[in-house]
Parts: sequence; C-alpha cells; structure tokens
Amino acid sequence: MGLLDGKVAIVTGAGRGLGEQHALLLASEGAQVVVNDLGGEWDGQGSDDRPAQQVVEKIEAAGGAAVANYDSCSNWKAAEGLVQQAIDTYGGLDIVVNNAGILRDKMSYNMDESDWDSVIDVHLKGHFAMTHFAGKYWRAKAKAGDEVYGRIINTSSESGLFGNAGQANYAAAKSGIVALTIVTARELAKIGVTANAIAPRARTRMTEQTFGEFGKQEEGKFDAFAAENVAPVIGWLASPAAQDVTGQVFIVWGAEVQVCKIWTLGGVVNAGDKAWTVDGLIEAQGELFKNHPSGLPPFLLESTS
Ligand SMILES: NC(=O)c1ccc[n+]([C@@H]2O[C@H](COP(=O)([O-])OP(=O)(O)OC[C@H]3O[C@@H](n4cnc5c(N)ncnc54)[C@H](O)[C@@H]3O)[C@@H](O)[C@H]2O)c1
Repeated sequence: MGLLDGKVAIVTGAGRGLGEQHALLLASEGAQVVVNDLGGEWDGQGSDDRPAQQVVEKIEAAGGAAVANYDSCSNWKAAEGLVQQAIDTYGGLDIVVNNAGILRDKMSYNMDESDWDSVIDVHLKGHFAMTHFAGKYWRAKAKAGDEVYGRIINTSSESGLFGNAGQANYAAAKSGIVALTIVTARELAKIGVTANAIAPRARTRMTEQTFGEFGKQEEGKFDAFAAENVAPVIGWLASPAAQDVTGQVFIVWGAEVQVCKIWTLGGVVNAGDKAWTVDGLIEAQGELFKNHPSGLPPFLLESTS
C-alpha cells in the first residue's frame, strides 16, 4: 500500500535531475504519473523525447504506472493538454509538481532580451500555465459537488529568495514563483487545494553549469547533494498528511528541510498625521534601520546542521 495509491500526478521537467527523482518517488508511493519533459539543453535549446520516455520506462520496470508527455509546460495550449492527458489517461488529477527549468546566467547589463524572455517563460509562465489549468479543473469539480484532492508543489530557488548576482532573469522568475505560490494557496484554500514551494539544492546538470563541481560527493559519506534527497519532501507535501500545510516555502537539501519566514516586517517610522518630507526621512533614517542593516541583505540562509 502506497501513501498515494489512486492519486494522479503531473511532474514537469521530470526527464532528468530533480524532476526525475520526484516522479520516481511519487510512483513508488502508488501515484500514476504523467512524466513531462521537453528534453532540451540546460539553456532551453532543442528538444528530445528520450528523457521523459526513459523515466516512464524506469517507473514501469519498478511496477508503477506512468505516461510520457514531451511538450513545453510553458506553452498555454500544451499545459492545458497536459492536464487533459492526466484526466484522459488516469481519470483525474490530484498532484502537480512544477519543476521544469532552464538557466541563462548573465549579469543584468550583459543579459539580452531572449535570455530574459526564455527563463521567465519556462519558469514563471510554465508554473502559472499549469497552476491555471489544474486550478480550473479542481474548481469545476468543487462546483459540481465532487470531492477535490489537490496539491501544487512549485520549485523556487534560494536565488529567488536572496538574489544571486548573474541571475536577474532566474531570480526574478523564482521570486515570482513564491508570490504565485502564496496567491494560489489563498485562492484555492476554500476548495481544500494546497500550494507550497521548495527551494532545492542538488547536483544536477543545471548546477554543474553554474557551479562546476557543485556538491561533489565525498567517498564513503552521505551524498548530501544527491537529487534524490529532495524527493521525500514532494511525497510528504503531496500526501494527505500535509492537508494543512499551504503557502509555505521550504529550503531542501541533504538531510535538511528548513521552512522559510518570508518578508517579515522590519523597522518602521511614522510621521504622525502628516506625510514625510525628504528632510524628515533623512533624519529618521537611523531610526528606520536601528535593528536592521541598510545595505545588501545576506545571500544564503546558514545551514542549521
Ligand atoms: N539543482 C539545484 O540545486 C537547484 C537549485 C534551485 C532550484 N532548482 C530548480 O529545480 C528544478 C529542476 O532543476 P534540475 O537541477 O533538476 O535541472 P535539470 O536541467 O537536470 O532538469 C530540468 C528539466 O526540465 C526540463 N525542461 C526545461 N524546460 C522545459 C519545458 N519548457 N517544458 C518541459 N520540460 C522542460 C529539461 O529538459 C530538464 O530535463 C528547476 O526549476 C531548477 O530551477 C534546482
């Protein structure tokens, strides 16, 4: 008996890296999985059916159920088709894991329009298109009086939370995904659908492109940067046990899961019953930043382990 027996999941970008591990874990817990992957290069160029097909074969070889989808999840019609494929193949949709992603890193002053557009398109529009069509399906079900089980699990990044130099496009998309997650969680709460996001760290071709030998495994030690370490969080958030967990962001890697407090409020100054003047603000500046650095925020949360 799996935790997700009878559930139907879509995982975007599931042909490689983190998405592959998410799909394998969901299937091992009994979910029927639509394995979506365009199969392009790490920077979004090209396409290839093999990555998605190979993951379907792995799931089937392990006794699970899966079907491939080779479309771009950021194409509006294709996203609608992806949701429809889950319904047509397995009779419904319960879980959406938005994971597909690409990179086009450059400093903002060197980044061209296509670098910006393609990264925003795959990540932000890709997440929104899937959220829109899945939400539409669940809302129609709720309106018809049918029971709804709904989970959206999005993929942000610490770059989106803390702003990595050289990733204006990627960080803006990943930060937008956090806002999208919170909005979605609020909008779908009344029909019992949850929306959460993870900010993972793992050794995949994506991080190899950015960091080179990122998280190299030390012989004989726990492989903290293995992509499979992240998947159990997807399984948990997809499960009935996480029904009350929504609108949250988790930093996940190795043996660690950290829940984020996002945009907590800092110092405040109040001019009373009149508007501030520039001179008044110059004077109040010290008070406003009394307990808070006025310069760059720290880049990464420190690990607790
Ligand atoms: N690896 C990390 O440390 C890390 C850190 C933070 C965030 N992330 C995020 O995790 C997600 C997975 O990344 P990964 O590291 O496994 O990279 P990856 O390159 O190994 O996998 C990404 C997959 O997405 C697919 N894809 C790309 N564009 C697509 C599209 N339009 N439609 C469908 N599929 C598409 C690719 O073909 C690829 O198989 C991404 O959203 C990434 O930004 C990864």
